[in-house]
Amino acid sequence: MTKITAAITAVGKYVPEFILTNEMLESMVETNDEWITSRTGIKERRILKETGRGTSFLAIKAAEDLIHKTKLDPKEIELVIVATATPDMQAASTSAFVATKIGATEAFSFDLESACSSFLYGMSVVARYIESGKYKKVLLIGADMNSSMIDYTDRATCIIFGDGAGAVLFEPNTEGLGLQDEYLRSDGNGREFLKVAAGGSILPASEDTVKNRLHYARQDGRTVFKFAVSKMADVTEKILERNNLTKADVSWLAAHQANKRIVEATAKRIELDMSKVMMNIHKYGNTTSATLPLLLEDYENQLRKGDTIIFAAFGGGFTWGAIYFKWAYNQTN
Ligand code: UT7
Repeated sequence: MTKITAAITAVGKYVPEFILTNEMLESMVETNDEWITSRTGIKERRILKETGRGTSFLAIKAAEDLIHKTKLDPKEIELVIVATATPDMQAASTSAFVATKIGATEAFSFDLESACSSFLYGMSVVARYIESGKYKKVLLIGADMNSSMIDYTDRATCIIFGDGAGAVLFEPNTEGLGLQDEYLRSDGNGREFLKVAAGGSILPASEDTVKNRLHYARQDGRTVFKFAVSKMADVTEKILERNNLTKADVSWLAAHQANKRIVEATAKRIELDMSKVMMNIHKYGNTTSATLPLLLEDYENQLRKGDTIIFAAFGGGFTWGAIYFKWAYNQTN
């Protein structure tokens, strides 16, 4: 029997119109463009401003972009996964709302939350559904409205995060393209270093939590940075080694966009030329679950059928990993 692999066959994206520049941040907190650019590589990020809109708005727009580009009948979609760290609300599934709104009325759906590794882990989950032969059209959306948990008086976090979404369609492939191998890890000792302390089950919302600003994301940047640099590079090296790949075999590195220096460190570890490293952090900042699909959309017209892409991510929890992937199409329009 021919082996079925899980290939990406289309991508779509959405970022909000409002642009928050480094210069604007200079008037909000004690910072400056030079510091932000040299320490992170970020120049601007997109923010969803309209009240009453959440992560689902971003996810729906990205999915609609994909559907519009491919002329896909949304009724053919069998599963919708929304990878996100900022769901619309607790208890109600964001993905169910998204699936219904995009017309995927024959699909089941669920949310997948693993901080900045959500999309990477989502790729692994989708691959199992496709490889089993049971499902043929699975939509994986990485979407985060980070501005909903950012304290715009905290210069350690507000300069980093932005809002956005990317949608990716997975279909079965019999040419050996798509997901080849994965190396995924997590370590719960890391959760103190990057978190939103209140609003979950451990510390539900109360007057005190609001007063103490505990509903905002806080991170010990230096510690997270140290772990991100070493862990993301480790798994990237590992996935190459165990698949007998050298840097010459790698067409692209698609690494989570948290900090340009972390991505550069990963590329350096495998001695990959920066011309093969996808980068868009300057435009969007860290969009958590959306960074990888946004990279794919931005680079789609440069990707060629058969290209080897190494995906890598690191995020809160801690969660991290790398995926060895083969691109399945040339963009025609
Ligand atoms: O996506 C999930 C994973 N997240 C990450 O991977 C993020 C990892 N961390 C980082 O990217 C970096 O740690 C940051 C960008 C958050 C910070 O950069 P850093 O080079 O690690 O700076 P730092 O925290 O060590 O701070 C250096 C100095 C400090 O001043 P002192 O103590 O040396 O006097 C900070 O107070 O820079 C100061 N600083 C700032 N200065 C201007 C911190 N934030 C700012 C700021 N503007 N926005």
